[in-house]
Amino acid sequence: MTKHRKISLEEYLETRKEIVDRALGRYLPEESGPLSEICEAMRYSLFAGGKRLRPVLCMASAETVGGNEQTVLPFACAIEMIHTYSLIHDDLPSMDDDDYRRGKPTNHKVFGEGVAVLAGDALLTEAFRLLSAVHPGISPETTLSIIREIATAAGFKGMIGGQVADLRAESKEVDMGQVQYIHTHKTQALITVSIRAGALIADAGEDDLSALSEYGKKTGLAFQIADDILDIESCREVLGKDTGSDEGRGKATYPALIGLEESRKEMRRLVEGALSEVERFDERADPLRMIARFIAERKS
Ligand code: IPE
Ligand code: IPE
Ligand code: MG
Ligand code: MG
Ligand code: MG
Repeated sequence: MTKHRKISLEEYLETRKEIVDRALGRYLPEESGPLSEICEAMRYSLFAGGKRLRPVLCMASAETVGGNEQTVLPFACAIEMIHTYSLIHDDLPSMDDDDYRRGKPTNHKVFGEGVAVLAGDALLTEAFRLLSAVHPGISPETTLSIIREIATAAGFKGMIGGQVADLRAESKEVDMGQVQYIHTHKTQALITVSIRAGALIADAGEDDLSALSEYGKKTGLAFQIADDILDIESCREVLGKDTGSDEGRGKATYPALIGLEESRKEMRRLVEGALSEVERFDERADPLRMIARFIAERKS
């Protein structure tokens, strides 16, 4: 039974990831001439081998409420571009100073810090260029309000705010409120908006949208707790990024504050909560159910 479920999760993630990768390739093709270097740096990180969790969640959320996953692709891919930019900047020497990401040397290690900063900037702006296109089957009003939500989630009141708090908390004693602030802003916000965007494009009703938003908040926080745990328990070969760096930099994480066992319990409690949020949906929510379980069990 478990085995069966695992295989279908893998198949689901694999097929959706392929759809996302193909679409990203269309949205950001190789360039020649003067644009070749920046484009190569952008594509280096974008196609380094991420899990594509945010775009897959966007598609799974649309599917849950009867939407079409092709329609959400530009939104899903724009969010993946924003996520990739955040990773390039997160790894810079002036931030987490990491050398390895998605199984490869980090962007600044290959292209230098200047181009890495610019590759991040370019992915962020390209994401909004892609979002601002006319999207067949989606009203301009809906598009505009989703763009605004994504900007809020990625901006200083969302992910950037969390990243600033994360930097400021390094080597400091922090309480649970501060760690929650960091995690909900740096990670939960973008994951939640991925799910909300899919649902909004698919014209979800008020109650469905609110259940999906709660699912997003719970899985989004659980996802960052899992990331904190894996930084202690995993290794570079499996995770594709260096481990032990949170302890090395004195990062404010769940395990640092409440220990591994309690962190695991909290993560599982959140995943259970996320699963109950989507009980109201039929089998079209099965991908969301599998992804919630995957978050607590993932090894990379
Ligand atoms: C890593 O995100 C950064 C966090 C917000 C925890 P992912 O674990 O989704 O990274 P990729 O996209 O698979 O590389
Ligand atoms: C990063 O959190 C969150 C982002 C917004 C990029 P981490 O710093 O823990 O992510 P990793 O472990 O480097 O992927
Ligand atoms: Mg960081
Ligand atoms: Mg980091
Ligand atoms: Mg981490």
